[in-house]
Amino acid sequence: MKPDHSVKPHPVLTDYYANEGARRARIDQLFDASARHYDRINNIMSFGSGRWYRRTALLRAGLSEGNRVLDVGAGTGVVSLLAQEIVGSTGHVVAVDPSQGMLDVARTNGVKNVRKALGEALPFPDNEFDMVTMGYALRHVSDLRVLFREYQRVLRPGGKILLLEITRPENRLGKFLLKAYMRAYVPAVTRLLAGSAEAQKLMQYYWDTIENCVPPETILDVMTDVGLVEPARHVVMKVFSEYSATKAK
Ligand SMILES: C[S@@+](CC[C@H](N)C(=O)[O-])C[C@H]1O[C@@H](n2cnc3c(N)ncnc32)[C@H](O)[C@@H]1O
Repeated sequence: MKPDHSVKPHPVLTDYYANEGARRARIDQLFDASARHYDRINNIMSFGSGRWYRRTALLRAGLSEGNRVLDVGAGTGVVSLLAQEIVGSTGHVVAVDPSQGMLDVARTNGVKNVRKALGEALPFPDNEFDMVTMGYALRHVSDLRVLFREYQRVLRPGGKILLLEITRPENRLGKFLLKAYMRAYVPAVTRLLAGSAEAQKLMQYYWDTIENCVPPETILDVMTDVGLVEPARHVVMKVFSEYSATKAK
């Protein structure tokens, strides 16, 4: 048997699917069913991941006019739309997501280029993009090593990665408060507003993946392992992590 060098973002969560093989289909089902509610929930809860914060993070990472951007795990296109504004008519943004439901909403929202695909198997040539972005989708991939190899491949030399994630607080009180908010309050309000049991389940899953996610050091180590350089983590309010790395020139 070949040794398994994969790095899963979190262990199997049996409350949602029986085993690793069943994970992909269940995640797609949850996101498809919640797609039409996603923006409303996100706007109301906006746990720091609102438009203003995401725009600031893109600018901080150096996104500028004329850039070619690949937004992976684009969902309804919140990051893609901001990137489109920043890169302007001389730039180019492609939004990638495995959920057709999410991509349909992204297109309606004004995302110009959408493509159904997984971050782990990108249908693009080598050296194609100046920046790869990923907003709150890292926890849903099957293998961080495969994902970062793909990012390394499609970036041009000198190109940059920006990953936005929520990280569980290290101190007990912070973790207790965030968990109470995200595992209980947000799913309950989601159920009330969206009237959807699947959207409620997705919000519970959201926290469970955060709680069980590999630590930030593992994410940075895997970036280095695949050959990316200058891996870094910028933290805002102890919870919002912006991971960045560069493809060597
Ligand atoms: C929480 S949404 C984030 C959407 C958007 N980026 C944002 O900032 O609001 C996570 C998205 O990741 C997508 N996703 C799940 N697994 C993925 C994978 N393996 N590769 C790329 N995207 C994935 C889901 O379909 C979903 O649309």
